[in-house]
This record gives sequence, structure tokens and C-alpha cells, in this order.
Amino acid sequence: MTPAEALLAWYDSHRRELPWRDIGNPYATWVSEIMLQQTRAETVIPYFQRFMADYPTVEALAAAPLDDVLKHWEGLGYYSRARNLHRGAQRVAAEYGGVLPRTPEALRRIEGIGDYTAGAIASIALGQKAAAVDGNVIRVISRFTGLRENAALPAVKREIAARTEALMPDDRPGDFNQALMDLGATVCVPGTPDCGACPLAAGCAARLLDIAAELPVLPKAKKPRVLCWDVLLIRSGDRVLVRRRTENMLRGLWVFPMAEGFAAPSEIRAAAKEKTGLDCVRIADCGAARHVFTHQIWEMHLWQMETAPGAEAGSPWRFVTEAELDALALPTAMKAARERAFG
Ligand code: ADE
Repeated sequence: MTPAEALLAWYDSHRRELPWRDIGNPYATWVSEIMLQQTRAETVIPYFQRFMADYPTVEALAAAPLDDVLKHWEGLGYYSRARNLHRGAQRVAAEYGGVLPRTPEALRRIEGIGDYTAGAIASIALGQKAAAVDGNVIRVISRFTGLRENAALPAVKREIAARTEALMPDDRPGDFNQALMDLGATVCVPGTPDCGACPLAAGCAARLLDIAAELPVLPKAKKPRVLCWDVLLIRSGDRVLVRRRTENMLRGLWVFPMAEGFAAPSEIRAAAKEKTGLDCVRIADCGAARHVFTHQIWEMHLWQMETAPGAEAGSPWRFVTEAELDALALPTAMKAARERAFG
């Protein structure tokens, strides 16, 4: 049995049943593969199902307001994925009649589709022999072929793609790629893999040399930067103040006013005035919250306060009711604050 035959036989009896599998719809594969970047399959399932129910076609997604698309992405993180997917759908609708192009080169010209996604769509939805090198595939192929070079380097990634394609069978390339992903997620896991359960163990270089725990070779992750924020929950009657972010990070999502650095309680009133122009009273300490992003940690101190009923703040600020807030896309980092805002 070739390694590919062993892997596909394992996949046929051990594969995870996931809603984006075997549906033969390149658009669905596109959506699922974008959602699956940096996000676990179990987390993605309900998001994928809601997204496909509400945007069943490229045209439906292209016609949707970005705010609605971001609301569908709320909680998944890495929101630039949603913005790019939306822009990509608009391009495919306008330039390709709503049908994804069929070659990896043409796919890569669409917003948000890089080497990985192009390979995943080409192999899974279009049956082409193309590698789709994600973190799981890097680990499995580095170990199986005993590759000891820094897998974060583009040239080494290309080498991993070449080694993957050399092992890939002519039929079922999409299943082969997804089998590598499942193997990496469930058997050939980081740290100590479960080699006793692995269909590739017999030919695995890392197992032979007993170096599986050392592979793949990846640079040490940089320590995330810690930022401190006072988050200001400014109430006006039954409404609370928010704005839509225009900064790169979390662009298009809605947040409460935030002032950098922890101010003393006596300075919060001044901070609120400086940020929003509003005079606030009845300032109450609502405790702390923390959110861990990939490259940043936000340490937050939450403050509730009130301004005159009927007060309006100038652009970009907007007072919203609880129901209006529920309709906006709020990042997970704001969830603790949101709970306190109407508590
Ligand atoms: N991770 C990325 N793509 C995947 C897929 N198609 N199936 C399971 N996990 C994945």
C-alpha cells in the first residue's frame, strides 16, 4: 500500500463528519476554508451553517451589506477574513458571473484567497492535484518526510507543498488533503503524537528517528503586547454610547469608548469628556475584563456612567438601545463590557 492509499483508507473510516464535506459547491468550500483558517472545525460548524443559510450563493453574499456579513462573523475573530470574503464575492459576481474560476492562479487573484485557500478550493471542490498547506499539513508532512527546516519560511512552505503533491494520488486529491488535515488535528498532534493510531507510521521519518516531538521546526512565537484600557460605558437613559471602528484591527466592528492606560477613578470623568465631549456623572467601577488576541492582550477596566438624558454625542459616536446594540457586530473583546452596559 502506498502512503496515500493507507491515508485514504484511514480517512474513510475515521474522518470527521463536517457540514462542508462532499457538497460539491466551490463557493461553500471557499466560505468554509476561510472560516477554518486559525479556527477549530467545531467552532466553525454553526457559523458555516448560518452563513450558508443566509448567503447561499456568491451573488447573495455580494449583495449583502458588509455590516450584516460582519454580524455573521461575530465571535469568529480575524474579521479581515470576512471583509475580504465579501469583497471577493463582489469580484466573482461582477467579473466571473458568480462562478469561481477554476485554476489556482486565477483563484489567487481574488481577495483573501492565498496559496492555501486556492489549493483547498482547487483540490476539494474541483478535483485538482494541488496542495493546501495549513498548520496541520506542515506538521504531518514535516514529520513524515523528516524535514528539519524552518517551516515559516516561504521557500520551506513551497518545499512542503511539493512534498505533499509528490505523495498525492491522481484521484481524490481533495480527500487526501482533508485526510492530512484530520490526521494533524486528531493523531499527528503537536507535542507527542499518537503514532500507534497513525496510518502513515510505517513510513514516517520522524518516528524512525524518534524526533516527532521536535517537528515541525517553527520560530518561537513573539510575546503578545499587553495594552491597558479604560472602557467607558456611557448611558443616556436606556441607551449606551458606541462607535464603529475605522482602525485596521477590528475595522467595521462596534466598540464602546476606550481610553488607553488605566486612569485613577478621579480622572475617568475627564477621560470621558476628552474622548466623547460628554459630561458624565454617577461614575461606577464595574471591574476588570481581559481579552487575548494573537498578538495583543487587552486588559480592560470597565466604568459605567451617565450623561444627561437625551444627550447626543458628535460623530463618530452613536447612542444605541440594547436591541439596537444586539443588531451590531461586537467583537468578543467587548462582550464583558456589553454585559455590564445594561446590567
Ligand atoms: N481545516 C482547514 N480546512 C479543513 C477541512 N476542509 N476540513 C477539516 N479541517 C480543516
